[in-house]
Amino acid sequence: MNIGKPNGGRAVFGSRFAAIATTVGSAVGLGNIWRFPYEAGVHGGGAFLICYLAFALMVGVPVLIAEFIMGRGTRSNVLGAYRKLDPAHPWYWAGYLGIVASMLILGFYAVVAGWTLEYCLESLFGMLDFSSEEAGHSQFMMLTSGWRPVIWTIIFSLCNFAILMRGVTKGIERLSNILMPLLFILLVIFCVHSLFLPGFTEGINFLFRPDFSKITPSTLLGALGQAFFSLSLGVGCMMTYASYFSDKTRLGQTALTTMILDSLVAILSGVIIFPAVFSYGLSPTAGPTLVFEVLPNIFYRMTAGGIWSTLFFLLLFLASLTSTLSMSEISISFLSEEKKMGRKTATSISCGLTLLLSLLCALSMGPWKDLSIFGMNFFNLFDYVASNILMPIGGMVCSIFTGWWIDRRFIKSELTDPGTRRFIWLKPLIFFLRWICPAAIFIVFLDSSGLLPR
Ligand code: TRP
Repeated sequence: MNIGKPNGGRAVFGSRFAAIATTVGSAVGLGNIWRFPYEAGVHGGGAFLICYLAFALMVGVPVLIAEFIMGRGTRSNVLGAYRKLDPAHPWYWAGYLGIVASMLILGFYAVVAGWTLEYCLESLFGMLDFSSEEAGHSQFMMLTSGWRPVIWTIIFSLCNFAILMRGVTKGIERLSNILMPLLFILLVIFCVHSLFLPGFTEGINFLFRPDFSKITPSTLLGALGQAFFSLSLGVGCMMTYASYFSDKTRLGQTALTTMILDSLVAILSGVIIFPAVFSYGLSPTAGPTLVFEVLPNIFYRMTAGGIWSTLFFLLLFLASLTSTLSMSEISISFLSEEKKMGRKTATSISCGLTLLLSLLCALSMGPWKDLSIFGMNFFNLFDYVASNILMPIGGMVCSIFTGWWIDRRFIKSELTDPGTRRFIWLKPLIFFLRWICPAAIFIVFLDSSGLLPR
């Protein structure tokens, strides 16, 4: 079955390296460098890491392969992919959910990405004051309240927009090809630096020595959520990128490589952050402010701290940018293919809409601080709805759809580059997509909604 081919003038990534650089670019982002360390810090370090890796391998990789199969096999946007594979039933609604979820995620993501840009420039010009913990805290409060986040969110969103306007191959692919290797180099430099910190052993023990008594339902929930968020799953993001893969891209191998590199970045971030935290007697359980409040404190005490700090936040900014490109691409490809808009119009509409959502989030941290919906501000509400409701549903539908519904020959042909190679994992993959992935997601989902007895 060759549903979407030939690909009628659609973009195709130019090389195998580009396929990996773009998917890893999407996967690696704030999720790895900002979210992973604070989640691991809150949920007990090593125990969280083990659960996270297990979920990434057993649930993340199969769902990632499923998204790849649907995307490359149909060469379509999310909605088109479901529709081409089953025109008779309303599966394509999952596509709409994905589009909404990706816009909500982009809404709050752009605000945090805006902070990284602000921190980067402020460090460059020596304007950050982290001489004490209190100074650091009030600095963070100042940078993230009032009108400042609004301005930086707009600046970040404009960067995102400018690259997307250049298109898939000239914008997304070219930037990812350059930025991803650079990102790995920066990470390694920071890790080497970490080796020389007095708290290195303590930090490494915290991250790698699991204390299994610390595994609670909330650890499991946090770990599964982290695996999904970090691998950009459940909203059709990877499906959209896979629709630009060439026929030669090996889907299984690319999925596994993406998961390994993505986890590696998360682990390296832990290796950078925890030794530093322990070296200066700070607490690993600080939560979302860990990277923004604790780290600058540490940079401040280092020789040439300003340079380290600039580099670190530059790294975070670049990683965020390659991720937001992928989130925007979901709705851009939808608008241009399903609604027949030109690429530039589609990009402008998608970025305009998400900018509005981001502004709501940015304002809800500052001038609209007191506004609350279901007890949350916009920032937390968007995160909650997307990460705890829409992404698990999207992941489950994709897994059930591929495992139970679509023609097995189609799956096989995508995985074996129509019959020219062997793919020995076909049976286990189908088994995981049919049973393990939906069940794991469902249980964690029920648990997070408080419906399971404790
Ligand atoms: N995976 C990215 C990160 O770790 C974020 C991201 C990009 C994402 N695209 C996504 C998250 C789609 C959920 C859905 O930062």
